[in-house]
Amino acid sequence: MNEQVELLTKKITEAKIEISKIIIGQERAIELCLMAIFAGQHVLLEGVPGLAKTLLVKTLAHTLGCDFGRIQFSPDLMPSDITGTNIYNLKLNEFKLLKGPIFKTFILADEINRAPAKTQSALLQAMQEKEVTIDNETLTLDQNFTVFATQNPIEFEGTYPLPEAQKDRFMMKVYLDYPELDEELIFAKKVLTGENPEDTLKKNIVNSVLHAEDLHNFREGLLNISMNDELIKYAVDIVRATRSNDSILVGAGPRATQSLIYGSRIQALFNERDFVIPDDIQEMVLSVLSHRIIIRPEYEMEGVTSKDALDQVIKMVSVPK
Ligand SMILES: Nc1ncnc2c1ncn2[C@@H]1O[C@H](COP(=O)(O)OP(=O)(O)OP(=O)(O)O)[C@@H](O)[C@H]1O
Ligand SMILES: [Mg+2]
Repeated sequence: MNEQVELLTKKITEAKIEISKIIIGQERAIELCLMAIFAGQHVLLEGVPGLAKTLLVKTLAHTLGCDFGRIQFSPDLMPSDITGTNIYNLKLNEFKLLKGPIFKTFILADEINRAPAKTQSALLQAMQEKEVTIDNETLTLDQNFTVFATQNPIEFEGTYPLPEAQKDRFMMKVYLDYPELDEELIFAKKVLTGENPEDTLKKNIVNSVLHAEDLHNFREGLLNISMNDELIKYAVDIVRATRSNDSILVGAGPRATQSLIYGSRIQALFNERDFVIPDDIQEMVLSVLSHRIIIRPEYEMEGVTSKDALDQVIKMVSVPK
């Protein structure tokens, strides 16, 4: 393996060890979040309340030496609550920019579907452009700016679900599932000790494995993971097949191809290889594509899920030798 790739693998392994001091289980979700961070992309986090979504993003920020900001979306949240605003200082007789939470590095955009479209799009535009404009002044965001957005999957009343076009801006959807029995027992016991995971983070029991400014250097390691033309074609074929599947009303767009290629490369790394094989692509399909397709209502009523549809898509596309 190339030296840069080895270094990146070592860092990711170290990060996983530190994160596991706080987050019990959820290994795949942690892996997927790390993938998006190293790909410089954004994540949709989904899971019922209390599955440690907030704790996970805080822990990721701490471990990777990045700062953390949380934005609670609500019906009265204004775009300027996210980006910031110029405040007039009477004493100095001048305007001073008060930067909003978007200038932090890892952002938890909590319950993004609770804010109206105008406010959502302030965030989504920033995600795309990595800059924001406040009173005609354009400011650049942190180079590691990463958004983790949660949508409340239970309540629909008074919410504004993200339009399909906006979901497409997230590299993947990471689903947090209920913990296994043994995992739940571990943190049930922790309750007795009165140990609060947030305190554990503060006490530096969990180490930062890198400095924020080094993160982009590690990213370059990914460029050394090879993916041959046949495999690129395979990824493209899979995305295209979502557009002609019977059970899928709206298939995935070209951004999906980009995300699938990024994801497969990092998946190869997680599988301890510096070259992509078809399995890596298949492993990424669900996380990268499930939020970008819409199942036909008549199929949905029969119980067909996006996972079923994507499994079928994978079966239909011929795998390169
Ligand atoms: N996998 C886990 N590992 C460790 N602690 C956990 C785990 N799952 C839940 N917890 C515990 O549950 C608490 C709730 O987590 P957190 O507030 O991060 O959930 P959340 O998913 O953000 O919830 P909400 O959707 O209500 O915002 C944590 O402080 C932690 O003590
Ligand atoms: Mg939370």
